[in-house]
Amino acid sequence: MSAPSFQLTGRRALVTGSSRGIGLALAGALAAAGAHVVLNARDAARLAGAVEDLRATGASVEACAFDVTDEASVLAAAPALGTIDILVNNTGIQRRGPLATMPLADWNAVLHTNLTSAFLVARAVVPGMIARRAGKIVNVCSLMSELARPTTGNYAAAKGGLKMLTRAMCAEWAPHNIQVNGLAPGYILTEMTEPLAADPKFDSWIKGRTPAGRWGSVADLTGACVFLASPAAAFVNGQILTIDGGLSAVI
Ligand SMILES: NC(=O)c1ccc[n+]([C@@H]2O[C@H](COP(=O)([O-])OP(=O)(O)OC[C@H]3O[C@@H](n4cnc5c(N)ncnc54)[C@H](OP(=O)(O)O)[C@@H]3O)[C@@H](O)[C@H]2O)c1
Repeated sequence: MSAPSFQLTGRRALVTGSSRGIGLALAGALAAAGAHVVLNARDAARLAGAVEDLRATGASVEACAFDVTDEASVLAAAPALGTIDILVNNTGIQRRGPLATMPLADWNAVLHTNLTSAFLVARAVVPGMIARRAGKIVNVCSLMSELARPTTGNYAAAKGGLKMLTRAMCAEWAPHNIQVNGLAPGYILTEMTEPLAADPKFDSWIKGRTPAGRWGSVADLTGACVFLASPAAAFVNGQILTIDGGLSAVI
């Protein structure tokens, strides 16, 4: 019996929202496992810097800047993306505020960036996966795919929707040998969570509420992403893998 393979040599991956934070770490890990990775974000200059940094580590990467919420931009980018074997739908934003007074623009921005984008990008690359009878899709969900907090109503609705979109994609695409799974981070230190980490009350609440007693790092997520993108996860489908230091396991 041979050991399961976590190797991604010869695969081409796209990680959306990968100029920084979680996406950049996932892109670096997929490249370290042997994949060629296409990085994506809207800010082309910052994206070019991320590509340069990863190349300096020996990674095989390139940039493709486009807005994942804009259907025309996604369709226009598709030819340049080439054959995508692994898609990581990672793009996400926060616009905090109480639901009772939330501007529709904040609701729409969060729904479009965290949920609709995954549909748009997957729809652009899945015909190729279906034709090749092989593909991996990892949707970056959240602890808030399951749990809500005040002021994150739009985000929880989007991430809950992304969990169900993951299952719907599995229902339609598993017969084509495509594995679609979700990766659900807990509280991870990135630019998105900087304001929360800088708030001493929130910071101590997180450390107390998390059995691991700390914030997560982007490196905490990379092994699970490589696993879900690898041959080792060939029969793992429609699942959400939560990585939260145990937060959602306890009250
Ligand atoms: N940090 C956490 O604690 C945490 C917890 C659970 C889930 N998550 C999820 O993990 C994912 C990454 O979060 P993060 O903390 O790494 O966020 P981040 O540091 O704010 O990075 C977000 C990335 O997405 C890109 N992006 C945003 N809107 C985009 C658009 N319309 N089109 C293309 N790219 C876009 C950004 O670049 P541009 O602005 O240049 O486009 C950036 O590269 C998100 O889905 C987030 O919801 C994060």
